[in-house]
Amino acid sequence: MSNNFIKVENPVLIVEGKQADNERLKAESDYLRGTIVEDLQDRMTGGFTSDNFQLIRTHGMYQQDDRDIRGERQKQKLEPLHNVMLRARLPGGVITPTQWLGIDKFADDYTSYGSIRLTTRQTFQFHGVLKPDIKLMHQTLNSIGLDSIATAGDVNRNVLCTSNPVESELHQEAYQWAVKISEHLLPKTRAYAEIWLDEEKVETTEDEVVEPILGSNYLPRKFKTTVVIPPNNDIDLHANDLNFVAISDNGKLIGFNVLVGGGLAMTHGDKATYPRCADDFGFIALEHTLAVAEAVVTTQRDWGNRVNRKNAKTKYTLDRVGVDTFKAEVEHRAGIEFGDSRSYKFTHRGDSFGWVSGIDGKHHLTLFIENGRILDYPSKSLKTGMAKIAATHQGDFRLTANQNIIIAGVAEADKAAIEQLAREHGLLNDTTSNQRKSSMACVAFPTCPLAMAEAERYLPKLVDDVETILTKNNLADESIILRVTGCPNGCGRAMLAEIGLVGKGPGKYNMYLGSDLAGSRVPKLYKENVDEAGVLTEIDALTARWSTERINAEAFGDFVVRAGIVDQVNISVRDFHDD
Ligand code: HEM
Ligand code: SF4
Repeated sequence: MSNNFIKVENPVLIVEGKQADNERLKAESDYLRGTIVEDLQDRMTGGFTSDNFQLIRTHGMYQQDDRDIRGERQKQKLEPLHNVMLRARLPGGVITPTQWLGIDKFADDYTSYGSIRLTTRQTFQFHGVLKPDIKLMHQTLNSIGLDSIATAGDVNRNVLCTSNPVESELHQEAYQWAVKISEHLLPKTRAYAEIWLDEEKVETTEDEVVEPILGSNYLPRKFKTTVVIPPNNDIDLHANDLNFVAISDNGKLIGFNVLVGGGLAMTHGDKATYPRCADDFGFIALEHTLAVAEAVVTTQRDWGNRVNRKNAKTKYTLDRVGVDTFKAEVEHRAGIEFGDSRSYKFTHRGDSFGWVSGIDGKHHLTLFIENGRILDYPSKSLKTGMAKIAATHQGDFRLTANQNIIIAGVAEADKAAIEQLAREHGLLNDTTSNQRKSSMACVAFPTCPLAMAEAERYLPKLVDDVETILTKNNLADESIILRVTGCPNGCGRAMLAEIGLVGKGPGKYNMYLGSDLAGSRVPKLYKENVDEAGVLTEIDALTARWSTERINAEAFGDFVVRAGIVDQVNISVRDFHDD
């Protein structure tokens, strides 16, 4: 195996010490192959063994089991019912109707939950695929032009792009950059094609550089990239390592402001971990986009902490080496200088529900999907409805970073039929409150092995109760960005919410307050270990004050900061933890 770990420009900035075990397993994996093929054939267990358990992540899968039935199976002396969750690679969340019909059928035939889950990073997940069906799953995706390469693990993951194509031309250009960046930063190993698509193994020579960008050890930790079109920060750039903010002139894309080092994950009680907003490095012209993306990734590759995975993300590298040092290195590697940041403004993060028209005369219908779960419920057959729409729709679909879906590119003549199908199947419902549309949760139980508290299953009832409270406090039409995550990893982006609930233990949450509508700051810890009744009591008291004390149309997050209920958190850890 050749080692193509690229020369480190400034070795002083490397963290010394015993490397994390993930470094060994990546290095020994033969470029992400491991012994996955052998494991796949072993039917004595439904799971993957040793390093393969981790390695399948770089192919877009997590091994899971249903935690609701784990205890019961243990009593029967059975191993957990292992299965995998698959996350597709879908830059900008764009998926065609034909592709939708393909994934709809696979979800019916081969997933134990029968659902398609729209995620907070603009893709979909299958939950509950058993080992004998995994290869078929990848081949099915491949047959419809999809894959799941690098959607998990220590690589650059699915690249996001602002969803709603209202400014059609600008959106199209930005979206194409999201695709190009995704492809440029993908692992170059042929492991995925060999293992899942039965393609021939092509031997590499000793001195061949297999992974010129990612290196033989890949990245120190997961890495996330976005392209965002102001004024909508729907993709929540501060949750991501590398962000390209589209700067346009007369509706034409001319370049990007580049923001580096956002991230939300933390560990309860560990002050060396914290959510952090991204730093603005400045403006670049379009032609430098890929070089800058590559330079940020390789700088993080070489300087990121490979000793302690809890401090391995880009945000910690920036704080350790200094933002200016990191930025100068990116300029050096990309052979450019960042220009002064161009001005832009984010005003909101939510999706525009209902119909909106693009400047190209096409129409786009955004559907609210609670928890992003596309499933046939007794009261609403969302999955059947989506399949019927896919069977007639001539445009495409856009998955949003808020777990919703846009039926995009509808001609005037087709609007009525699409709307009727959406209404018939409960996909469009005029009574959904603003509060429900502003609420979000991660998956958590029963599938996520890291969940400490409920999130997706808790949210619908929580929103019912918050709606009642808002009405009681004369705020019926108002809404608060309310997000719940089952643990502090932050998949539901609670650390960019006006009210963020972060799972602490069964039925217990830490309550954070004070992000803003644009998502430009992280919230601050307000109360720890609050139970579900306590959450409602707090929200009642806080919104009662908001109702009477707010100035003009002040948003909830701004109110709690101005009223001194919580302190404002600025860019870094200095304000997030109290000391
Ligand atoms: C140490 C940090 C993190 C770890 C270990 C982690 C782990 C996981 C796991 C195990 C799942 C699968 C849950 C399931 O589908 O059953 C998941 C889902 C997901 N995570 Fe994370 N995660 C982390 C941080 C984040 C952050 C900061 C974001 C984005 C801001 C994120 C975005 C997602 C998304 C989009 C999903 C798909 C499900 C959804 O939409 O809720 N993750 N994560
Ligand atoms: S936030 Fe925690 S509980 Fe929720 S999906 Fe992510 S890892 Fe699982």
